[in-house]
Order: sequence, then C-alpha cells, then structure tokens
Amino acid sequence: MPDISRVGVLGCGQMGSGIAQVAAMAGFPTLVRDLDAGLLARGERSIQQSLEKLVDKGKLDASTRDAALERLTYTVELADLAGCDLIIEAVTESLELKNELWRALDPLCGPGTIFASNTSSLSIGDMAAATRRPEQFVGLHFFNPVPLMPLVEVVRAVATSRETFETALVFARRLGKEPIAAPDRSGFVVNRLLVPYLLDAARARESGLASTSDIDRGMQLGCGHPMGPLTLLDFVGLDTVVRIAEVMFEEFREPRLAPPPLLRRMVVAGLHGRKSGRGFYDYATNPPTPVDLGL
Ligand code: CAA
Repeated sequence: MPDISRVGVLGCGQMGSGIAQVAAMAGFPTLVRDLDAGLLARGERSIQQSLEKLVDKGKLDASTRDAALERLTYTVELADLAGCDLIIEAVTESLELKNELWRALDPLCGPGTIFASNTSSLSIGDMAAATRRPEQFVGLHFFNPVPLMPLVEVVRAVATSRETFETALVFARRLGKEPIAAPDRSGFVVNRLLVPYLLDAARARESGLASTSDIDRGMQLGCGHPMGPLTLLDFVGLDTVVRIAEVMFEEFREPRLAPPPLLRRMVVAGLHGRKSGRGFYDYATNPPTPVDLGL
C-alpha cells in the first residue's frame, strides 16, 4: 500500500482549511494551495482559531497545536504540490473548475500520487476521467466542521483501484475519522438523505408551515438534532446547498431534489448563511435572530 507522507490540499475555504488542520494534527506535513495570499491568510486564521478553541476546551495541548501549525505551509503555486503523495481538493462545487485543476496537476505529479476530491455531489468518475490516473482517484468527503465531525465518506468510482480505496480508508482512520464506503452516486450516502430534508425544511418555511425558529426548535427539541435544519442550511451555506441540490436533481430527476425558489432567491440576494452574515438568521446579533424574508 502506498505510504502517504506529504498531503496537499487544494482550496482553504471552510472545508479545505478543516481538512488541512486535521491532516496536520494527525502528523502529516500539509501544503495548502489557494488562489491568492488573502484567501490563504483567511484559511490560516480559521485553522489557528479552531486549534485555539480545542486548546481552550482542553481537547488539545499547546505543544500539539504548535506542532500542527509547524506542519502547515501555504502556497499559491500549483506546481508546489508536485511532491505530495495525496492531494485533496476542496474548491467550489464546479466540475469545470475542479477538472481544470486536475488537468493542470496531473502532469506535474508523480504516477503514484493519489488524487482525492471532497466533492459533496459531483461524480468522482467524471473527475477521474479528466486525468491519466483514474485508478488513483478517489472521493474523500468530510463533514463540517471538519475538526469535530468524525465521519469521512470514502468513494470508490468505477475505475478506482482497490489499493487506492484501501489507502484512502487507512488515511481517514489515521486522521482519527470513521470512514464509511460510499458509492459514486450524487450525494453519496449522507447527502442523499440530508439534502432532501434540508430542502423540505426550506419548503416548509416558504409555504408558511411554521416560523424559522419553530422549524428549528421543532427538530432540535423533538428529534434531538444538534442544529435545526434552517440553522444547518446557514451553516453549510445556502449557495453550496443550492449547487449540491442542482447536481443531485440533474442526476436523479426527482422533484424533491429541485432547490425551492426561496433558496434561490436568498442566494441571489446575497443571503448565503453564516459565512455572509445573513441567511435564515442574521448573525450580527447574539444570539442570531430570524431574518424577515418577506414571506
Ligand atoms: N473547531 C474546533 N472546535 C469547535 C469548532 C471548530 N471549527 N466549532 C465548534 N467548536 C467547539 C466549540 O468550541 C464547543 O466546544 P465545547 O463543547 O467544549 O464548549 C463545541 O465545539 C460546540 O460548539 P458550540 O457550542 O459553538 O455549538 P454547538 O453545541 O451547536 O456545536 C456543532 C457545534 C458541533 C457544529 C453541532 O451544532 C453540530 O454537530 N451540528 C451539526 C453539524 C452537521 O450536521 N454537520 C454536517 C453538515 S453537512 C456536511 O458537512 C456535508 C455536506 O456536504 C453538505
């Protein structure tokens, strides 16, 4: 089984920075690549803040935090990733964008380098086919917030070799995560169940079934969910969920997977959830208050 000694991460948004953090915490020298210094600085800050939280809560000691920070390096150059044994991509959910990166990286990397995508909905096979290494292409789907959520879906596409799949399972366990095997079908296992639920919650709000806070409190207090569905939509990002739903709708053509008009209107209006400061809730206040959506 190939040894993973150096990890590359493409993109340092919410997911990429979390993935880089857990890789560095698990002892892997980790190189993070994004488009410009501003994005890299934002990713680095969020890693520092997350590590700080873990230290404050007594879940991590300061020397382990410092060692993790030392294992992290940052670059804007794609070519710097050439020496990595595993490259995990966590950029915007666009097949064109992802494949553009894979096509550029493929000739730069050695034949043994494994490519992995953190996509939530796109086909791993569609990305693998853009490279000359479909056997060394796998899905590694993490959950938000990456440092806290124990699950990783490991996705074996039609052409993924058993060795690559096994290496990805071992890698996920080395990060301290619990892997499950998932098929290369849009949404894998978790989003296949979660996304229709989130879209139904947005439809419930749109149709006036209940208020924002009652929908959330209902699912928290009635079903023991840590977050209500509208809070979770804000947390994942409304733009991201709309994009995932569109891809899943394209694959399965089920009406329940079509993003409801309210979500599209909110995205167009810039209400992307927690990351933009407003979504179903306004995060300028503490605690956040429901936004008047004109319904
Ligand atoms: N790094 C480190 N620590 C963090 C953190 C981070 N990024 N975010 C939160 N924490 C810590 C907090 O400091 C806090 O610590 P203590 O319990 O020791 O006080 C703890 O986590 C809980 O945080 P909060 O009190 O702020 O909030 P919470 O109790 O609501 O917990 C949560 C936060 C763990 C995120 C919890 O609400 C939860 O599990 N929510 C559901 C998340 C979920 O469903 N994620 C999956 C999204 S779907 C996805 O990711 C896949 C996709 O493709 C769309």
